Amino acid sequence: MYYSQISKEQLNDECRALRAQYDELVKKELKLDMSRGKPDTEQVSLSDGILETLRSGGDCISENGTDCRNYGVLDGLPEAKKLFSDILDIPPENILVGGCSSLSLMYDEVVRAMLFGVAGGKLPWSAQGKIKFLCPVPGYDRHFAICEHMGIEMINIPMGQDGPDMDMIERYVSEDESVKGIWCVPKYSNPEGTVYSDETVRRFAALKPKADDFRIFWDNAYAVHDLYGEIKLANLFTLAHEYGNDDLPIIFTSTSKISYAGAGLAAMAASKANIDKTKKSLAIQTIGYDKLNQLRHVKYFKNAAGVNEHMKKHAALLRPKFEAVIRAFRDELGPLGVASWSEPRGGYFISLNVVPGCAKRVYELARGAGVTLTTVGATFPYGIDPLDRNLRIAPSYPPVSELKEAVHVLCLCVRLAAAERALSEK
Ligand SMILES: Cc1ncc(COP(=O)(O)O)c(C=O)c1O
Repeated sequence: MYYSQISKEQLNDECRALRAQYDELVKKELKLDMSRGKPDTEQVSLSDGILETLRSGGDCISENGTDCRNYGVLDGLPEAKKLFSDILDIPPENILVGGCSSLSLMYDEVVRAMLFGVAGGKLPWSAQGKIKFLCPVPGYDRHFAICEHMGIEMINIPMGQDGPDMDMIERYVSEDESVKGIWCVPKYSNPEGTVYSDETVRRFAALKPKADDFRIFWDNAYAVHDLYGEIKLANLFTLAHEYGNDDLPIIFTSTSKISYAGAGLAAMAASKANIDKTKKSLAIQTIGYDKLNQLRHVKYFKNAAGVNEHMKKHAALLRPKFEAVIRAFRDELGPLGVASWSEPRGGYFISLNVVPGCAKRVYELARGAGVTLTTVGATFPYGIDPLDRNLRIAPSYPPVSELKEAVHVLCLCVRLAAAERALSEK
């Protein structure tokens, strides 16, 4: 890092200059937000054709004759299952379409395992004393929140270029019976944008868990969210079958960032045994999900090709935003060596690692200058980033002009925090 190579006097001057620039920015009373990982208004408007698809009762009939305005059909319309089957390359009979939030499906799946156990499991998870989940980090805060809420102990697993540390995962899973699950975002992981390599996916498929009720929670939230053309993720479902591990993966996805966030469709894919077990509880929980929403999504998108065409429009809106952030990082932080960051080819986030011990300081400085960032620590279990260095950047929501301003402020804060730290260590 540049700041640790210069003399104390030079560093003092540098800190003073950066502080003066920072004070000028504070005077501008900015109000900018880079914390929200959600599509902007233009993006959600891309799907407004969905709202036009069902104009009268006659439009509301499924291909199997079901009147979608009425009760019935627990696990999804056949055409909705086919749509997700096409997207995920998993047979329709292994798909359950449920509600409008994949997070909700994940939460329910964990609760069901806690209360009733998983398919083939002898005891509910909650009757087995302390149980644990493996958590690739940095990761998605809401996965970790589910575990924390249920009292499931979380173990950090470092992420690498090809996905999480598989040696560590294989060791934990094969040796510790209390390890019951792992959270994975295998394509464009939140927040680093990593795509698990074929080898990583194969190793997941081949796991030999000590616990007979271990499950892989495979949250494929960004399955079709490529910014620069398709990157193919290996198919865990078919690979698991090859290894006789059909029941291991439970795969989740949704159209939250395809159609409407929180008002799209969510789906789960798994073995027949897993789906049957889920449906048994689901039949108590609901008479059926919103089939009108399923039907209008299918009428609008038709199939995976329709979804892929649509995603190109999202990509065209998102690319300039990702590029604005990455360009600023390269120009303003790169030469000083005060940070490293991911340069994702898709998804919704960029991960920024500042000088260890400085992330909280950067967050506070940014807040002082009117820029809201995702809370530091959110990307780790229990909200604790052991190195206090990771920041999750969400470029999708603000307009490009605001984003450029916000990222410039952020870069200044990263530099100031790094310079202050170097000074304190001189
Ligand atoms: C990895 C991941 N999974 C799930 C979700 C939420 O999905 P849904 O809207 O389907 O509940 C998000 C939203 O940011 C996410 O990043």
